[in-house]
Amino acid sequence: KIWPVVLSGGSGTRLWPLSRAHYPKQFLPIHSDQAMIQDTLARFGDPARFAPPLIIANDDHRFIVAEKLAEMGIDPLAIILEPGGKGTAPAAIMAALRLEQEDDQALMLLAPSDHVITALPDFMAALERATAAASGGKLVTFGIKADHPETGYGYIESGPALDQMPGAFAVAHFHEKPDAQTAQGYLDQGNVYWNSGIFLFRCDHLIKAYERHAPDMLKACRAALAGSRRDLAFERPDSHAFMSGPEGSIDRVLMEKAANVAVVPVDMGWSDLGSFRALWDHLPKNQDGNVLEGDIIALDSRNCLLRADGAFIAALGIEDLIIVTTKDTVLIAHKNRAEEVGRVVDQLKAQK
Ligand code: GDD
Ligand code: MG
Repeated sequence: KIWPVVLSGGSGTRLWPLSRAHYPKQFLPIHSDQAMIQDTLARFGDPARFAPPLIIANDDHRFIVAEKLAEMGIDPLAIILEPGGKGTAPAAIMAALRLEQEDDQALMLLAPSDHVITALPDFMAALERATAAASGGKLVTFGIKADHPETGYGYIESGPALDQMPGAFAVAHFHEKPDAQTAQGYLDQGNVYWNSGIFLFRCDHLIKAYERHAPDMLKACRAALAGSRRDLAFERPDSHAFMSGPEGSIDRVLMEKAANVAVVPVDMGWSDLGSFRALWDHLPKNQDGNVLEGDIIALDSRNCLLRADGAFIAALGIEDLIIVTTKDTVLIAHKNRAEEVGRVVDQLKAQK
């Protein structure tokens, strides 16, 4: 069986003001009529294939997570609660160390809680291919054919096909979030995939890789888990041990460095709805290229994303803008600057 691990500790600042610190985007119905984390969990619902999920989230969001699971009738393996966000690298290794307690060769499927996959059968077929590679010792990432120089993704240059592992390729290079020029360079050279942020590894192989590339992080996380306190499904690692360890993303801490990384390319209608630009790209547009959601009038306006979750929006003669209203906030940004919306949140924090 495959053990799904759902990462739910991000704050989604590029989707502010929809996504807020106390209620980030994975808990919102941004793409369907259920929360993104529920769409994610639904993919792993087949008990013939998947063990119960392990969720790793911020302590502040424990009741939201529990409620989203309960709404779906899911009884998780556990909900690990981080006392604070230290990035995906510690979260992933905490999960692997926890799974080791169940099965020391557990196949762990690490998945973000906030992605869209529209072609589920294609994902399942890719998972099949990845299983052979991960069982054979590879750290497998699922690669999405890159088609524009997006700077918010990891880039994977694929190498030769792997023996005995059909559909899996060696990774020649893994480059997390290159600048625009470097990203364009990768595109020109072809053979390049975006890292989907979804990974498959055997937990013992992952632990070995941390031993080599992030021994201090591994040590801190082992200590944190050893000091875990359990309270129903909630498991709270020792706060001091966890918070005093290093931080970082699994992409930078591990995938850029490890030698045994493989990529399984897949075309599955994937989207990281990470920014309003990505939302605009993904959602259906009217004949003027506008994405309109909520109570809106748009006249002579083109290629905008307008979302009225609060105040009504009236637009006239605008182009390439993002306008989002909530009860108490209005965001207006150029669509080409969507990746920078997080700066607003940084500024707000600095003013507090
Ligand atoms: N538990 C936990 N703790 N989860 C976290 C933490 C944390 O500290 N930080 C982030 N997450 C969760 C987020 O909620 C999200 O579901 C997932 O981990 C990925 O984190 P992001 O912060 O969204 O990463 P990213 O989008 O910038 O980059 C990653 O995803 C891209 C594709 O969407 C990388 O893996 C890139 O290489 C990849 O291309
Ligand atoms: Mg993301």
